[in-house]
Amino acid sequence: MKSKIIITGGTGYIGSHTAVEFINEGLEVVIVDNLSNSDISVLDRIQSITDVAPTFENIDLTDRVKTTSFFERHKDASGVINFAAFKAVGESVQLPLQYYHNNLNILLNVMDCMDRFEIRNLIFSSSATVYGLPDSFPLTENSKTKKPTSPYGNTKKIGEEVIEDFSKVAKNFKAISLRYFNPIGAHSSGDLGETPTGVPNNLMPFITQTALGKREELKIFGKDYDTIDGTAIRDYIHVVDLAKAHVMAFQRLMKNEAKENFEIFNIGTGIGYSVLDVIASFEKTTKQKLNYSFVDRRSGDVPVLYASTAKAKKELGWNPKLTLDDMTKSSWEWEVKKNIL
Ligand code: UD1
Repeated sequence: MKSKIIITGGTGYIGSHTAVEFINEGLEVVIVDNLSNSDISVLDRIQSITDVAPTFENIDLTDRVKTTSFFERHKDASGVINFAAFKAVGESVQLPLQYYHNNLNILLNVMDCMDRFEIRNLIFSSSATVYGLPDSFPLTENSKTKKPTSPYGNTKKIGEEVIEDFSKVAKNFKAISLRYFNPIGAHSSGDLGETPTGVPNNLMPFITQTALGKREELKIFGKDYDTIDGTAIRDYIHVVDLAKAHVMAFQRLMKNEAKENFEIFNIGTGIGYSVLDVIASFEKTTKQKLNYSFVDRRSGDVPVLYASTAKAKKELGWNPKLTLDDMTKSSWEWEVKKNIL
């Protein structure tokens, strides 16, 4: 019998790419999402890529009763990949209670149901934001975590703490937290990618929308950082490589290879690129000329952030394969195709 996996938030940006990778591995995927920040058409897109229509249920996972009945229906699942969460950093500063309520209640309800129905394997979608303003580089999983600069980030840190505490006492419960660096890029089919609502906060969608003429110019936040070209450095990771890391983490749990009940892995490439590197790659791969100007640093931004990915490589056997050029090119192809359709 096929192994069944529940993907919460599976119509979102990272969730949908992960659903594709699990289906490609032959797993039965059940997506649960309330479509608060995604579109139902993503299901057709997943089907057109994989030839498989994933099961879908529209449920708000903060609703304990509905969540319980959902899990009752799918108690034969072998694991949960938990993506469902609000994720806008700036918005979370304005609406902290909504962010804590949504992200933490979803996690608590999901874990409560996993406990009740004896579903033993959890992959948690975490973020490099748990390292706060780091003291040294590259960041390893043992680097000190600090209070993140936003309530959004703090829900990730608290989420990890909840899982860690539970994993110490729960019987046969195993979890892996994946700390993403900066996911960008889109599926090579051009059928899946990021669709931010309103004005994008993140770099890549702002670049593609500017090149398409939807935005006048990209404002580069800061040109006086102590970096090679003065702009801030991040570890950009292709969303398809990131999606595959979830499959490998899940397989590790299924094969009982985890060394501890709760494990953490950084998921990045280990390479830091500046904002100007990303723009140069974008202009090269797409032949587009980008309008941009420099403005002051954005408050809360760290100058440099990149991962050590040695643990993920060694323990998960995961190696990111796609380059910065693949990331910028696929992001553009998705932006163009999405706006033609
Ligand atoms: C942020 C969050 C991170 C989250 C990620 C993806 C923090 C500290 N980080 O990362 O948790 O996972 O978004 O949602 O909260 N930039 C510009 N102009 C723009 C936009 C961005 O110059 O219009 C620059 C930024 O200053 C930064 C880089 O581009 O140096 C990347 O920014 P962004 O894509 O927003 O990601 P982070 O802030 O690194």
